[in-house]
Amino acid sequence: MRDSLPLSLLALLSLLSTTVNVLAVPSAVSGQSIPIIRRSRVPQNDKDLAAWAQKHKAYIEAKYGFSKPTEKRANGLNLLTDLQFDSSYFGSIAVGTPPTTFNVILDTGSSDLWLSTSTSESTSRQGQDNIPQYNPSSSSSFEQVNDTFSIQYGSGAAKGVLGKDTVQFSGFQVTGQTFGLVTQTTAQLLSTPLSGLMGLAFEDIASSGATPFWQTLVNTPGTLDSPLMAFQLSRYTNVTDAQPLEPGGTFNIGAVNSSLYTGDIDYQNTPDGSPGYWILELTSMSVQGNSISLPSGEGAWAAIDTGTTGVGMPAEIVQNIFAQVPGSQPAGGQFDGYYTYPCSTNIDAQVGFGNSSNRWTISSADFAFQQLEDGSCLGAFFELPSSSGTTTPPIIIGDTFLKNVYSVFRASNPPSVGFATLSSTAVSLNGADGPVPLPTIVSSLSGVNPTSTGVSVGTGGQNNGASSTTNGVHVAGLAVSLLTAVAPLLLW
Ligand SMILES: *[C@@H]1O[C@H](CO)[C@@H](O)[C@H](O)[C@H]1NC(C)=O
Ligand SMILES: *[C@@H]1O[C@H](CO)[C@@H](O)[C@H](O)[C@H]1NC(C)=O
Ligand SMILES: *[C@@H]1O[C@H](CO)[C@@H](O)[C@H](O)[C@H]1NC(C)=O
Ligand SMILES: *[C@@H]1O[C@H](CO)[C@@H](O)[C@H](O)[C@H]1NC(C)=O
Repeated sequence: MRDSLPLSLLALLSLLSTTVNVLAVPSAVSGQSIPIIRRSRVPQNDKDLAAWAQKHKAYIEAKYGFSKPTEKRANGLNLLTDLQFDSSYFGSIAVGTPPTTFNVILDTGSSDLWLSTSTSESTSRQGQDNIPQYNPSSSSSFEQVNDTFSIQYGSGAAKGVLGKDTVQFSGFQVTGQTFGLVTQTTAQLLSTPLSGLMGLAFEDIASSGATPFWQTLVNTPGTLDSPLMAFQLSRYTNVTDAQPLEPGGTFNIGAVNSSLYTGDIDYQNTPDGSPGYWILELTSMSVQGNSISLPSGEGAWAAIDTGTTGVGMPAEIVQNIFAQVPGSQPAGGQFDGYYTYPCSTNIDAQVGFGNSSNRWTISSADFAFQQLEDGSCLGAFFELPSSSGTTTPPIIIGDTFLKNVYSVFRASNPPSVGFATLSSTAVSLNGADGPVPLPTIVSSLSGVNPTSTGVSVGTGGQNNGASSTTNGVHVAGLAVSLLTAVAPLLLW
């Protein structure tokens, strides 16, 4: 392993070394601070005067503690969009001054933020003409960082330079966030309406070396109610009239959303010495009631990765899984590393993590990645090449599993990932007809002194439902090279 420090220690080190000033700035909307400059004059007519008088009274009361101040917001929400029938899930961020919104894959399998960028020097990029791009010259808060940026995913690569700007996400703002200004990507890494990716794993695997946005919030005392992020991902893979963009679920930071799960959250610790992914040990798996033999220890470390569509595992395990499915066979050819099986087979697959006795079911709908032209189903479990000698964990558990649970990524005490049973409210969101969420720029932050730096807090940011369709895309933080290779061949 590249790094064997415990994650809690790494978080501490990153706090000490951070160059981001992380003073909390109360926003105007919280009621704690109303900028003096806004009170330009006392309004003239009675109605305006009454409104002003009430506001002024509330302000003075809050200022001097006469009334209970509005509670400080310490958690946030980002509504997700499901792209291409559960291929990926994105949220939105707003970057720069004035803020511009961008759709980004929310990826717990990597740790860098990057955006497709238009610069005078950038060469033309095939297939990226319609991608909304960040333009540093139109942001007054952009700062140059004279360093290159490059990142390699299983599904492709992105290259460019580093820069800094103000970033808003889920109602929080970090000034001076370092991120990649990407001018080159491999084909199909991005397609409209996506502009980039926000990594939600730990700083020690960040290619940029920068503290990830979420970790800056965690490292700043008093910012979040709890040091965690949570996902509920909606399922459209088995909905025949689904659109390429559908409501994708809910991302919460700082607090879980108790309307989305029932029972307890079963937290299991990331194993000691694991690198900066969100890793759990996969300790149990069964298919059609038969147990699948698994390696122990590091050989069963699984990255819990919202940025990967399916589930990647060493070839022996995948073979063993499909040995339990009658009529299955290696897909071969363009689908090398995948298996097909009769779509009529109902699959009962269950997994367990860490020391927990809980077994989580992967629905038969999710076990099938896609129906092929010959009518067979392509399984969502695929073979990953051996990762020995790298920090990449041998198993990657993506959305195929995560759609079946409420998942919580907790940064400390100790670092762990928790799963809970989806509530009936959450289950009812699967396949639900409805508009995709729209981006929201936090207007209240415009009242914050532009020289104040650090984290500030506003109303929840939400995301984009730009109507353009996409070409089959599977962006992933970890390893989905096989997935990307087959994507254009699938029957979208
Ligand atoms: C980056 O390089 C440019 C041109 O060489 C220089 O003007 C600028 O000050 C440098 N910025 C930083 C932050 O070092
Ligand atoms: C909790 O989830 C529900 C269902 O998606 C959503 O309507 C609500 O806004 C969420 N609340 C918070 C505080 O995240
Ligand atoms: C299981 O629990 C033991 C004792 O609490 C602990 O040492 C071990 O790391 C745990 N294993 C996993 C995979 O979480
Ligand atoms: C999709 O799959 C889920 C989980 O197996 C199931 O509950 C739901 O009824 C399916 N929806 C459709 C439209 O088939």
